[in-house]
Amino acid sequence: IQAALRTDELKGRKVLITSGPTHEPLDPVRFIANHSTGKMGAALAEAFYLKGAEVIFIYGPGSRLPEFTGIKKQAVITAADMYEAAMQHFEKVDVAVLAAAVADYTPATVSDKKIKKKQSLFNLELNKTRDILKALGENKGSKLLIGFALETDHALENAKKKLQEKNADFIVLNSMGDTGAGFGYDTNKVSILSRDGKISESVLDTKAAIAAFIIRTTVCSQW
Ligand code: CTP
Ligand code: CA
Repeated sequence: IQAALRTDELKGRKVLITSGPTHEPLDPVRFIANHSTGKMGAALAEAFYLKGAEVIFIYGPGSRLPEFTGIKKQAVITAADMYEAAMQHFEKVDVAVLAAAVADYTPATVSDKKIKKKQSLFNLELNKTRDILKALGENKGSKLLIGFALETDHALENAKKKLQEKNADFIVLNSMGDTGAGFGYDTNKVSILSRDGKISESVLDTKAAIAAFIIRTTVCSQW
């Protein structure tokens, strides 16, 4: 893909994308994380950029990065860092797409020395992290807010709940059951839920094609 192929379909529009996992430290050598690779987030950043939008990409450790140097990138580590970065940029954007797999819990205390093994049962105390999507939903105004959902069961029901509770305009539901879709794969298959109750299903395709499908079904259906 080449930056020269950029169109002006979304010229003048500003987009915030969160991507990848977060790392929640336990001590100087350990952290809690998840399997997110940031491939979907990076593909979305590239797709928005190729449509002429200005993109700010906020990414956790190890997230795949979008190709183009014209895309602004900000690295974060923890869920708290990602929250701060997203809040800081949200005011200036027209769309936010929260593709990151943010940790739901973070260690209540971080040891400044390496934790030594002792007892056979080790209880770890965790605090809930702040929900970035929900916080942006509370300050949404006329912006377009797109969240993701990853479910293993009662997928549609849970995704609908997320749409309502987080005040998002759309929820992109990742299908876990399909082989070739989800964490680490280069392909994906999604269902997009909108506020009016409509559900748009994609086929299994490359993450670049799924990114184009997401933009077509969300941003381009609104503007
Ligand atoms: N999300 C977020 N901040 C968090 C947790 C989640 O912004 N602290 C966002 C994700 O980026 C995603 C959406 O919320 O866009 C849904 O994430 P998901 O993990 O599926 O849902 P949760 O609300 O965290 O609920 P649960 O994990 O219990 O299903
Ligand atoms: Ca979660």
